[in-house]
Amino acid sequence: MLFDAGSPERRHRHFGTATMTTGRIPLAEPHLTGNASRYLAECLRTNFVSSVGPFVERFESEFAARLGATHAIACASGTAALHVALRLLDVGPGDDVFVSTFTFVASGNPILYQGATPVLVDSDEATWNLDATLVLDELARRHRLGARMPKVIEAVHVLGQAADLEALAVECDRHGITLLEDAAEALGATYSNGPLAGREVGTVGRLGCFSFNGNKIVTSGGGGMIVTDDPSLARRAKHLTTQARVPGRAYFHDEVGYNYRLTNVAAALGVAQLELLDEFLVAKRRIAARYDAGLLGVPGVAPSPRPRWSNPTHWLYSVLLDTEEARDAALDRLQHAGIEARPLWTPLHRMPAFQGAPRIGTGAVAEVIAQRGLSLPSSVTLTENDQDRVLATLREFLTTTSSR
Ligand SMILES: Cc1ncc(COP(=O)(O)O)c(C=O)c1O
Repeated sequence: MLFDAGSPERRHRHFGTATMTTGRIPLAEPHLTGNASRYLAECLRTNFVSSVGPFVERFESEFAARLGATHAIACASGTAALHVALRLLDVGPGDDVFVSTFTFVASGNPILYQGATPVLVDSDEATWNLDATLVLDELARRHRLGARMPKVIEAVHVLGQAADLEALAVECDRHGITLLEDAAEALGATYSNGPLAGREVGTVGRLGCFSFNGNKIVTSGGGGMIVTDDPSLARRAKHLTTQARVPGRAYFHDEVGYNYRLTNVAAALGVAQLELLDEFLVAKRRIAARYDAGLLGVPGVAPSPRPRWSNPTHWLYSVLLDTEEARDAALDRLQHAGIEARPLWTPLHRMPAFQGAPRIGTGAVAEVIAQRGLSLPSSVTLTENDQDRVLATLREFLTTTSSR
């Protein structure tokens, strides 16, 4: 059950009366229910706590089946998954990788680990994901000039919203460019119409990467997954995540590998959480619908865009306020009221590690989202009472500031 009562402390916090209206409301807390305790106890009972154990394979096969992918390879984190994906694609110095400038820094860091060049793409106002038109124009321009094509386009599905991949996937095929999806925040999002209708995010490109860190819709405490339909990539991914160890030869490693394995304990939690994904998706979408309704007609606030071809998860329900000052003041007001809200990411082009990286587009759309955007509490455990408190605080702030 998704909304079982949990521990006495949680019951008190979530379903009490006085405490409920004044307690801190977290941004995105995990909900470790279902079979979690049973599977974790099984790890302890069998002594399989490290990176060997039945839950790792089970998590991989159940994850692949859930997504309709042929292979899934568990990793220590989403960042590790992206790093291995780039290694699998032989990305290195002299290679361009196109990536959204508006994303969490972990989308870009693995490109730098590999010594490749991140090319930072501005966002589309209509999706907040990479602007596909800008990318298509740049591909056409490079093609016309005979200039170097990107080796990889890393499309990030931010905040649980599917990126616009329909035309991009076709152009990638045409030019021999690999499409890699950073679906860390979007497990469960699907395409709802067009040629990609019914497809899960992370399964459109040659490789898709996911994260299971603590604030994600499904958490394993920490962890990640690579999905692919290509058996040779899957085999090599497993090899690279296990120190490139050659089976059957003691301590022989045939290339540079990583200790990027997921532990059996983490995988046990992941399996239990994956069993609840559908319930979590229902909860996230219900929370988003209530926020939408509660903010309708309120001055100075707009929910994140909803492209018609996407069925988003609303991983973190996010809005845009009219100005940066209003956004900062709203964050202060919410924090003062014990409500954990969060600004959106600083674009990569503003970060020291990405200084001087080539850009596609001005970055102006990403700047606006970063300056004026904020995410509201979106835990699957968010009660209607707590959500009403968030809405009342934000509405009161916005109506008083707009009438000044
Ligand atoms: C878009 C994006 N990419 C990659 C990652 C990296 O995942 P992890 O924290 O599991 O390394 C995250 C999340 O943390 C993310 O939000």
